[in-house]
Amino acid sequence: MNHASIPLALSYDDVLLVPRRSGLASRSDVDVASRLTRNLRLAAPIVSANMDTVTESEMAIAMARVGGLGIVHRFLTVEQQVAEVARVKRAEALVIPDPHTIAPDATLADAADASQRLGVTSLVVVGPGDRLEGLLTRRDVMLRTDRAQPVRELMTPRAELVVGGPDTSAEEAARLLRDGRVEKLPLVDDDDRLVGLITLRDLLQRAERPEATKDSRGRLAVGAAIGVRGDYVERAQALQDAGADVVVLDIAHGHAEHAVRAIATIRDALGGSTDIIAGNVATPEGARDLAEAGADGVKVGVGPGSVCTTRVVAGVGVPQLSAVMDCAEACAPFGVPVIADGGIRFGGDVAKAIAAGAETVMVGNLLAGTPESPGVVVSRNGGRVKVFRGMASSAAADARRALEAEDDTEFTPVVAEGVEAVVPLRDAVAVVLHGLVGGLRSGMSYSDARTITEFHRNARFVRITPGGLRESHPHDVSY
Ligand code: XMP
Repeated sequence: MNHASIPLALSYDDVLLVPRRSGLASRSDVDVASRLTRNLRLAAPIVSANMDTVTESEMAIAMARVGGLGIVHRFLTVEQQVAEVARVKRAEALVIPDPHTIAPDATLADAADASQRLGVTSLVVVGPGDRLEGLLTRRDVMLRTDRAQPVRELMTPRAELVVGGPDTSAEEAARLLRDGRVEKLPLVDDDDRLVGLITLRDLLQRAERPEATKDSRGRLAVGAAIGVRGDYVERAQALQDAGADVVVLDIAHGHAEHAVRAIATIRDALGGSTDIIAGNVATPEGARDLAEAGADGVKVGVGPGSVCTTRVVAGVGVPQLSAVMDCAEACAPFGVPVIADGGIRFGGDVAKAIAAGAETVMVGNLLAGTPESPGVVVSRNGGRVKVFRGMASSAAADARRALEAEDDTEFTPVVAEGVEAVVPLRDAVAVVLHGLVGGLRSGMSYSDARTITEFHRNARFVRITPGGLRESHPHDVSY
């Protein structure tokens, strides 16, 4: 190897987007909708990282509601990960297919217990054979003190209920709820058997957030990560059965041959009906091999993450802007989109990553401090912060061992390649995403781009020096 043949690679801080003549009058004329995979489109091109201090159900629900997507991490038992996916699927849907029920001869005490345990305010009352007998709402039990009183005496009886048929549309449900001045619409079949429930709350959320990422049944969309060892095939199948919309085959060195082979194995096991994202890679050869093997999305990033130490510990990685550019170019002939994973610190980084050819970005750090992340809040220096750790840190490995959720040893290297840290508490996910998407919109408008496709075509970068970087950040002021 000759030193002159070593190529230069750049990262976000090494470049800026060059402004160009733009016909865009307003940033709201910009449409940031983009592809996460060949078949899954997001209104906001941001996904939350599959890390145990970033994405479980609460994060995934918040992300999907604002048009992004959460990828539930895999350092859980299969049952736990499936339960997280199921929670997202249940959070918001036009029809709740299996509403929580109670028997008419149960008592008020039973109903109160069930409501608390299940986190719901109303229970559908069903008799033998799932026949609808009534509805028990908060209003029915308010100020009741006889805990032994049977539900039958408290519920709104069947004769007084407004109900719909099994195929009630959103419009029809809205009309029935409005005319009946009620908040819950049980759905029954011809034999008056309960087949579902539509709630006013879900209908309102649907109307308020048309950009939310939904599946074909109106449920929030969610992704879930898997590895390439141990029970990964059964895990993938269980996640698909639970309704996961995309499976993310995620290992540190996604260009390992066993990882490339695993794509076909998973594709066969899932019958081609769930999209597969594979990663992580940082070279055009890696990206091409994953796309060729059948990945529907390729995740790019080796070492750019804020809690990664791979580049320090192993000396391995490719600065992220170049990695994204090279991988996007390699994936283009396959029609496979690239996800830029790691190293996003500002809205400007999102704009640069997408201008470089990515269609979405994956974010860990910036979401780890939100109230929706599963990280633990701790005190530091008199303030409150949240724990955030690399998945290859020794702290994460210890936690996995304690949980007995270690499905492989790939993320538990001999030496840790990540650190455990803390991040400041942040605003809600919706606010953080609004800021990042706002930055992207702005970046696009400077490039005269109305769509992500136009952005890919129009964006021009300029390389900058340390002087240029200093000039870019606020300077010569004090706070
Ligand atoms: P940010 O910068 O958004 O990056 O916090 C999140 C991404 O970092 C990667 N990740 C790791 N990389 N060692 C690594 O080398 C680790 O321990 C580690 N944990 C997470 C991952 O790609 C994530 O999405």
